[in-house]
Amino acid sequence: MYVCVCNAVTESQIHKAIDDGIRTLRELRQTLGVTAECGRCARCARDCLRSRAERAPDASLAQRPARATPAYSPVLEAT
Ligand code: FES
Repeated sequence: MYVCVCNAVTESQIHKAIDDGIRTLRELRQTLGVTAECGRCARCARDCLRSRAERAPDASLAQRPARATPAYSPVLEAT
């Protein structure tokens, strides 16, 4: 199935790129040209990245860095 019609990039090509180490949409754009034209393929390409990462035997592919959130938010009281 074509994911990016503008650059004739298929889902299989994206999966191969992920298997070869591509991890982000930006890297997909740089290597395959996905989203480089009209950008309508961005959501589908991102879904390919996520679904492939979830199925990857390497657990690090499925893990994303957690957002840094403070353990507490100090409230400054005006006196
Ligand atoms: S469909 Fe991918 S850039 Fe247009």
